[in-house]
Amino acid sequence: MSYKVKDIILAPQGELNIGWATGHMPVLGIIKDRFHKEKPLKGVTIAASLHCTKETAVLIRVLEAGGAKIALAGSNPLTTQDDVVAALAKTGTNVYAWRGQTKEEYYECINSVLDFKPNITIDDGCDLVSTVHSARTELLDGVRAGSEETTTGVIRLRAMADSGALKYPMIAVNDTPTKNMFDNRYGSGQSTIDGVVRATGGMLLAGKNFVMSGYGWCGQGIAKRASGMGCNVIVTEVDPVRALEAAMEGYKVMSLAEASKIGDIFLTSTGCKHVIDKKHLEIMKSGAVLANSGHFNVEINIPALEEMSTKKVRIRPDVDEYHTKDGRKLYLLSEGRLVNLAAADGSASEVMDMSFANHALVAEWLMKTNLETTVHNVPESIDHMIASLKLEAMGFQLDTLTEEQRKYLTSWQEGTV
Ligand code: ADE
Repeated sequence: MSYKVKDIILAPQGELNIGWATGHMPVLGIIKDRFHKEKPLKGVTIAASLHCTKETAVLIRVLEAGGAKIALAGSNPLTTQDDVVAALAKTGTNVYAWRGQTKEEYYECINSVLDFKPNITIDDGCDLVSTVHSARTELLDGVRAGSEETTTGVIRLRAMADSGALKYPMIAVNDTPTKNMFDNRYGSGQSTIDGVVRATGGMLLAGKNFVMSGYGWCGQGIAKRASGMGCNVIVTEVDPVRALEAAMEGYKVMSLAEASKIGDIFLTSTGCKHVIDKKHLEIMKSGAVLANSGHFNVEINIPALEEMSTKKVRIRPDVDEYHTKDGRKLYLLSEGRLVNLAAADGSASEVMDMSFANHALVAEWLMKTNLETTVHNVPESIDHMIASLKLEAMGFQLDTLTEEQRKYLTSWQEGTV
């Protein structure tokens, strides 16, 4: 066992936080009990690059209960909960992560987990998989398959598959309904607002013009929560169907160029680059707050912001005040990294329960299944099992089809009566 964390002395608080998360993740609890008995991952080495939160710790312990040997690194330089990784290290997990890493330290940690020669990779953002496929190709033969947690990671994987670069099968956990309809929508929705509020020390949202760039699952969730807090929500999109959906949901839809003149708070969640660009930064009101909850810190053109500013003052741990050459002040939260994880706790345990149940069950399934080398969906049977277990844990019951209804739904003879 080895580890590299900020301070092992933080372990007791981390253990308490993991305990809190465990109590709110009943589906993983059921899977853990079965894994403990059946050991479906005995002899399997798993390298993971995930946001190192209390919820991730719960997943790691489920995989360990299944017999796997785990090596964990972060999936972002600013999202590790130092107390949680200290607790994992203390109880024997190989973990390499701390909050506030440089890019070099971040990739050193990715390489440390790859030194364990994994059979399965679990990734959030595709940095682990892309490192295996570029700098660590000697490991490719030993990797059976992997799973990917997030939208950006799946976009990168599909680009790898399309260009023939992908060398082992990957499962797009992000694309399964028990992940994106809950974690992305309700999890990112709540935690992004939480991040903005915590970072700014409780800034009032009511009455503010809140510009949401991107109206995918995450954007939808964030817009709804912002609206619930009394914001005037403006949506900017490049996809006409999504823009239409936002308009019919009751939001104003306009170009970012227009929105930039009136926005008080700007939020990006697109998976794309330089969504808020120099030309937008140039016309924003003094006092505007900018944040991102997409995977990478490229959605806001930070180099342009740096270039147009005379100085930058860190006024709070997650707030940088930029003084522009034309005398305005713009406020960037969490260095443009995922504000929901850097300034808050990320998606709540209750929804991560389903996302991470997918990774656990997919890891078990991957060890029994031979797959073609491409990007696959989570089998529907796994998705439905997770939804059923979650419903049961929440105390809700399902109806079942009668035999007459089942026959009706699989026939075509009966029509207008
Ligand atoms: N991604 C979003 N929220 C998360 C959380 N709480 N833990 C790990 N990954 C996450």
